[in-house]
Amino acid sequence: MTPDDPQLILLQQLAHGEWISGADLAQTLGISREAVSKRIRRLSEWQLEVASQSGRGYQLQPAIELLDGEHILTELRAAGHASSRVQILTSVDSTNRWLGEHGCNHMLCLAEHQSAGRGRRGRQWHSPFAQNLYLSLRIDFQHWPDRLPALGLVLGVALCERLNALGIALQLKWPNDLYLGGRKCGGLLIEQRGELLGAGTLIIGLGLNVAMREGPAIDQHWTSLALHGHTISRNTLAVELADTLLKECHALDNARISQRLEQFSNYDVYHDAPVLIHGNEASVAGHSQGIDEWGRLRLRTAHGEQRFSVGDVSLRRSDAAD
Ligand code: BTN
Repeated sequence: MTPDDPQLILLQQLAHGEWISGADLAQTLGISREAVSKRIRRLSEWQLEVASQSGRGYQLQPAIELLDGEHILTELRAAGHASSRVQILTSVDSTNRWLGEHGCNHMLCLAEHQSAGRGRRGRQWHSPFAQNLYLSLRIDFQHWPDRLPALGLVLGVALCERLNALGIALQLKWPNDLYLGGRKCGGLLIEQRGELLGAGTLIIGLGLNVAMREGPAIDQHWTSLALHGHTISRNTLAVELADTLLKECHALDNARISQRLEQFSNYDVYHDAPVLIHGNEASVAGHSQGIDEWGRLRLRTAHGEQRFSVGDVSLRRSDAAD
């Protein structure tokens, strides 16, 4: 959807949640009142509710804060990210997919809604309209960084550090889950394209539940910033998150990776907890002992320590319902 798309202009007119007449909307959009009412009905495809009353017009319930690409770009430029670009999409299947196909180095893509948001291990990422943040960053490399599998952990630690500084007690569940108050509040999905021994591209996808208060049955216990009393603007948060990811990727050398991996224990939600590791074929029970210098999970089991690489395994507490 381009910035002059009538559906986006309609949303911009309604976003504040005040009553606005059909005549005013028709004039702003340059379309008939019948066409306005058709377009209003189409907003239900994104689960947006618009009340209508004769004599008053239309009201979006509740109000929403739309992403402001110009604001985000200006703030990122001011923070020193001269080469970054920002693309805001109203609706897309997946920001990771879009950026992989259309983006360039250091470009960010954010969407108000994803129709097929991707999570780890083939899961779907629930992406309701204008409630959460769905953000992807593209990084092109000439050579793959040595400890690439640890990248998600490095970025997770950096994001926790930044949000904790804002008073949001974000934690990490190995490898790439962002937790708040013991429940999942977000996650990272890093996808790579290119040959292992040459130039390549990383698409770093970040989903963070911001204002979502209800959702369909997601197969994990979830939460959002709003459910913990945080009412931070999505645009402010987008700048904080994007700045953190960009800074971290620019500073990514071995020393920085080691430093971040050492800091993991500060945010480790399962530190010394009884856990179960689920692989494709078997499950292993033990006590989580943090991570090693490669980002592998150290598990104390009845048969000694075992280490698990970031890959197709998942981790759950074994003494709780999640
Ligand atoms: C997880 O399973 O925890 C990772 C979720 C990652 C979701 C984000 S939302 C933005 C980006 N686009 C996607 O399709 N997925 C990631």
